[in-house]
Amino acid sequence: MNRRLGVLVSGRGSNLQALIDAIAERRLDASIALVISNVEHAGGLDRARAAGIEAVHVDHRGWPARDDYDRELARQLKARDVGLVCLAGFMRRIGPPLIDAFPHAILNIHPSLLPAFPGVDAQRQAVRYGVKISGVTVHLVTPELDGGPIVVQRAVPVRDDDTAETLAARILSEEHRAFPEAVQIVLDGRWKVDGRRVVRL
Ligand code: GRF
Repeated sequence: MNRRLGVLVSGRGSNLQALIDAIAERRLDASIALVISNVEHAGGLDRARAAGIEAVHVDHRGWPARDDYDRELARQLKARDVGLVCLAGFMRRIGPPLIDAFPHAILNIHPSLLPAFPGVDAQRQAVRYGVKISGVTVHLVTPELDGGPIVVQRAVPVRDDDTAETLAARILSEEHRAFPEAVQIVLDGRWKVDGRRVVRL
């Protein structure tokens, strides 16, 4: 697989940083061709630029139709010959023009053990529900929100005195391990999708 990554962010970009660090430390055999943020002052853009990576703000507002934004993202990624798209805290739903442009080549990281607690504020959902174990999921992106085939999951215990914030911090440490690991697995290419399952070959 083409090892050029495109990373989409909306916020602080700590998962982007985990990818940058994993590449620098040669735990991940890839390069980051482009970082895109829909938020102009996202910390992720600063992290990318500090690492010498091209970083652009592409506003999600002001497009005639929702699909037009996704088409523009796909165009920018294709223009840099990106092979795998990584959603690292990108707070927009991905639509068909982008999914179809990168079939089974978009990864998302989500801070729960899916299919539990999809959508926003997964860590708060977990604390409120009272689960004893939560975690992180890295999955291929399909049109279903947080619903695609799972590449990597890691469990994180929930403590009785956890708040959404303390649990989020504990899960985040695992995210930073799980994301580079999942990217490496996908790039290595020894897998196939069988129904809902990612099966290692
Ligand atoms: C992470 O918790 C990720 O799982 C979720 O959004 C958050 C992004 O954090 N999708 P960061 O911007 O990578 O620090």
